Amino acid sequence: MPLPLKRLWYERADHWRFFRQWLRHPLTTAAITPSGPQLVRSMMAELPVGARRVIELGAGTGVMTRALVARGIAPEDLLVLELNPQLASHLGRMFPRAHVVCADARNLPAEARRRSDWGDEMADAVVSSLGLLSMPATLQREIVMAAFECLRPDGRFIQFTYGPRPPLRAEVANALGLHVTRGSMVVRNIPPATVFVYTRTRSQVIVPRPVR
Ligand SMILES: C[S@@+](CC[C@H](N)C(=O)[O-])C[C@H]1O[C@@H](n2cnc3c(N)ncnc32)[C@H](O)[C@@H]1O
Repeated sequence: MPLPLKRLWYERADHWRFFRQWLRHPLTTAAITPSGPQLVRSMMAELPVGARRVIELGAGTGVMTRALVARGIAPEDLLVLELNPQLASHLGRMFPRAHVVCADARNLPAEARRRSDWGDEMADAVVSSLGLLSMPATLQREIVMAAFECLRPDGRFIQFTYGPRPPLRAEVANALGLHVTRGSMVVRNIPPATVFVYTRTRSQVIVPRPVR
């Protein structure tokens, strides 16, 4: 089969796979179709320059994962968490060199520790497609705390939401000492989405004490 046709065939198969999972788990799947190419590009544009180690939360059928690899992130430097067992095993087959686990994003620190080859080095970015906006404050807090536990002090938590509102409730972002910036708004996505980036505020960055 010619390459463009093959790509189209895989894309259609992924859309169907995703839709079936939405029918089964509408609340956690949070969308009826995978993110479109413009949203994927807008998320990738927020990666820090020279990012090496990246964690992905809620990878679905792998559209962001594929883009991360295409941007030069080595699969071995990717830790991918997906709650849905069917989608997680599909991701495992698609990205055999990446570390794909079927796990809840709240358990991220434990999953990161299990990666003995990662040592103590932390991630440069977390790329999240979770439906944070519709989650209760306690769940938002648990997930984002887990993510920042695995991020370098200047690491970026990159998240999109459907609509123009930031994904985290203000009280959660304030309690965790996080600063938010708005990235691109992508109208050509189903549904339209906006990218946001959370970073620690300066006061939260751990500065090593001078040796006396
Ligand atoms: C909106 S879909 C995004 C999928 C894909 N990244 C994309 O952009 O097309 C959200 C994904 O997050 C997964 N998910 C939901 N809650 C999760 C959790 N607590 N931990 C890990 N994955 C979760 C869902 O199973 C679903 O695949």
